[in-house]
Amino acid sequence: MKPYVYITRKLPEETLAELKKIAKVEMWQEEDKPVPRQILMEKAKKAAGLLTMLSDKVDEELLLQARQLKVVANLAVGFDNIDVDAASKCGVTVCNTPDVLTDTTADLAFALLMAAGRRITEAAEYVKDGKWNSWSPLLLAGTDIHHKTLGIVGMGRIGEAVAKRAAGFEMDVLYHNRRRKPEAEEKHGRLFYRTFEELLKESDYIVCLTPLTPDTKGLFNEKAFKMMKDTALFINVSRGGVVDETALDKALKQGWIRGAGLDVFREEPIPSDHPLLRHANLTALPHIGSASIETRLMMARLAVTNIAHVLQGLKAPAAVNADE
Ligand code: GLV
Ligand code: GLV
Repeated sequence: MKPYVYITRKLPEETLAELKKIAKVEMWQEEDKPVPRQILMEKAKKAAGLLTMLSDKVDEELLLQARQLKVVANLAVGFDNIDVDAASKCGVTVCNTPDVLTDTTADLAFALLMAAGRRITEAAEYVKDGKWNSWSPLLLAGTDIHHKTLGIVGMGRIGEAVAKRAAGFEMDVLYHNRRRKPEAEEKHGRLFYRTFEELLKESDYIVCLTPLTPDTKGLFNEKAFKMMKDTALFINVSRGGVVDETALDKALKQGWIRGAGLDVFREEPIPSDHPLLRHANLTALPHIGSASIETRLMMARLAVTNIAHVLQGLKAPAAVNADE
């Protein structure tokens, strides 16, 4: 009998071929509604593989009941929704989708940076709302991007791809990372390592790309926002949990920083009456960092390959706990 694989969201049929050859595949059929927890628990009990979204919680409770489970493939580079330690203990391989989304996510990070700096969404709404009455010298004037200082917190592959884009704008790039990366400094030129505090104090744009871990939870708190320049723009494209949103709300209200661009939130979807959304100088996006059609198809194919490889006893191309 073929092993059973459950996919927690509807994916294009064309991405599933590799898996369908070796497994019985079932998919949650709603495109814009997540699978309810109870259904996921039931499916997981008989599944050898799960293909999950970043919004599905794969915790110890689920893993302990999933006795047949060999692999969980997340359709994301981040995997903070999965208890990797518990998975390792249960002998479950956890996989993600790195690399294929690097440039696409860096594009979005830069788009959000530019939108925040030049007030793009605010200006676009202004026109559509019929508020544009006359041209005027400082109407919706933002701040420059070129020749400014960009600070990248979390210098992984996406961080390096953002630094590459910044070079075209002749920005100086500071970065903070757990590990200093001399090879990246050499490759990119105008790229300088800083402590977290130095980076906050010196940057005009701060882009957060660090994964959510117990160490980074709430990293951007009151103290951090107070250290930033009052002209700084804060961009987050990693995970909402890295930011203390109450502190950010205060920072925007009291003018500790100039503005923010967020693709991610503590609670997703963010409720429309959330205090953060009241700030005109906050650009909010619905977690679309890697959302180009090309990249989402590649991510789906990679997740499928990850599962197919594990179920066939092969090394998955992107396992995060492979050597445990
Ligand atoms: C998206 O946030 C991802 O982790 O891929
Ligand atoms: C994170 O994993 C990255 O690719 O930056």
